[in-house]
Amino acid sequence: MPRVLVVGGTGLAGRAITAEAVHRGHDVVVASRRVPDDDADAFVPGADYRTADIVTGDGLEEVLDSVDVLVDASNASGRAASHVFAAGSQNLLHTAARFGVHRAVLLSIVNVDRSAYTYYRAKAAQERSYQDSALETRIVRTTQFHDFVTSIFQRGARVGFVPAPAKVRFQPIAVSDVARILVDAAEGQGAPNSTRTFGGPRVESSRELAEQWKTATGARGAIVATRISGALGSTWRAGQNLAPEQAIDGLRYADWLRSIEV
Ligand SMILES: NC(=O)c1ccc[n+]([C@@H]2O[C@H](COP(=O)([O-])OP(=O)(O)OC[C@H]3O[C@@H](n4cnc5c(N)ncnc54)[C@H](OP(=O)(O)O)[C@@H]3O)[C@@H](O)[C@H]2O)c1
Repeated sequence: MPRVLVVGGTGLAGRAITAEAVHRGHDVVVASRRVPDDDADAFVPGADYRTADIVTGDGLEEVLDSVDVLVDASNASGRAASHVFAAGSQNLLHTAARFGVHRAVLLSIVNVDRSAYTYYRAKAAQERSYQDSALETRIVRTTQFHDFVTSIFQRGARVGFVPAPAKVRFQPIAVSDVARILVDAAEGQGAPNSTRTFGGPRVESSRELAEQWKTATGARGAIVATRISGALGSTWRAGQNLAPEQAIDGLRYADWLRSIEV
């Protein structure tokens, strides 16, 4: 079986990708700046955890040695996003090319090149690094994760209401489904050098999703339509976060809520 490197394999999506790749019998190396304790949620038994920083390059050569395929599930917010997505992906791909890595798979976001939102612009630059790379690449764009939509509701609920972004619909997808798609791509599914999009199973209004979250959690507080300002709000209200034609037959939000401890 090929040796697979999961960059950012301790993160939300990365640990699901790591678990899926280990489950399929791959030899899996995980790279991140910190290695989890073996009783931490992020720890997947069977994976080999190493420290590496894609921005500074520290540890990169060591983790890329003898790797056949890399999957990039790294992430950062604020100013760090441009470092991780621009400089980080350049470092990663150049070093990977030197070490004879055959294929690189990137986890990205639906329509990320159509938004002026700063984080999305940094992700679009990351995609361009993959498109320009000498390696065989596959970019996999997905809609927002179930966990991401949930975090919007949780944030407001702490102060007594449930915010539902006004005039916004989501098509959330389970990270377990994302992991299967990413590992399929790592195994060679999809055309070389392609960008493919996958959406969650259903498009629903933020209010409908907030109602499902309230039912599952028993949270009190009214659902309040909240206007999201700036480029992110415009992107969402324009429906650019949706991919109805690429909906997968996956785990729906309400079923996912029932499957986890909320
Ligand atoms: N949230 C969504 O709804 C959604 C939807 C579609 C696509 N995505 C994309 O999915 C990707 C993963 O998101 P996530 O929420 O799963 O990420 P996350 O939970 O924030 O995890 C980020 C990972 O990146 C690692 N990392 C950060 N900086 C690093 C560096 N300099 N060198 C090496 N590793 C580094 C982190 O470990 P250390 O901090 O220990 O280094 C961690 O393992 C992102 O690119 C995001 O854009 C997200």
